[in-house]
Amino acid sequence: MYSKEELHNGLNTFIFGKKIFTYDSIDSTNTCAKTLASAGAEEGTVIIAEYQTAGRGRLGRTWQAESGNNILLSVIIRPKLEINKIGLLPFFAAVGTAQALETAAGVRFECKWPNDILLNGKKCCGILLESSFQHNVLDYAVIGIGVNVNQKSFDEDLKERATSLRQEFGREFDRREVFQHIMKSLELLYSEVKNGNFMTTLNEWKSRTTIFGKQVAINQAGERLRGRAIALSADGGLVIETPDGRKICYAGDVVFTKES
Ligand code: BTN
Repeated sequence: MYSKEELHNGLNTFIFGKKIFTYDSIDSTNTCAKTLASAGAEEGTVIIAEYQTAGRGRLGRTWQAESGNNILLSVIIRPKLEINKIGLLPFFAAVGTAQALETAAGVRFECKWPNDILLNGKKCCGILLESSFQHNVLDYAVIGIGVNVNQKSFDEDLKERATSLRQEFGREFDRREVFQHIMKSLELLYSEVKNGNFMTTLNEWKSRTTIFGKQVAINQAGERLRGRAIALSADGGLVIETPDGRKICYAGDVVFTKES
């Protein structure tokens, strides 16, 4: 287990990771971050754990990770954003993390809508962003990041789709270094994002995705949409050209389908 001191040592940031809470085991770092944020914890506060007993993923799923081998963290932010820009925050989290992983591993990582990070076509990082509002104004957002760093193996049902840095590169990574890169990349990007400027974030995200122009299928609210992914909407939705016209998806899992 890394101590707070080790994680701070060499961390070159002003906001992200200035305050760190470390846990051997916790239910979910996101749940803990939400509790702390509601009680007034300052922006940049990080909760990091070696193991989660109830790690949460998107769409009500669970997030499972071997104890002591991965990065499981949540960070609190309090940007002053107009409500129509909140849906862009997951792209900020994904780009910041992808840039950090690129610095650590020296290769390009792919971003998959809305906020997965892929390496050689398999998911190595998932992001869960949760927000809280007061009187229609964003009070805080919690960015939950799970990076499969040194995970040795995955369950049968996951191993076709999931991977870790260790599996792809055949060596262990220093989690402290990866953590510090994540903090640094997020902080750099945040200097624009906190003022509502998502230009760098979205350009970077688009440069890392392969989705546009492809035939996709996506389940949204019980409906299966099929069509060509053509763009991101101004509020972060995925614009799909379907036989019934253009539709915008805000949640769901994209799968690539054959050209029709
Ligand atoms: C997904 O891909 O479905 C999102 C997974 C997010 C997992 C991380 S691990 C740290 C943080 N705490 C949680 O309970 N979830 C996020």
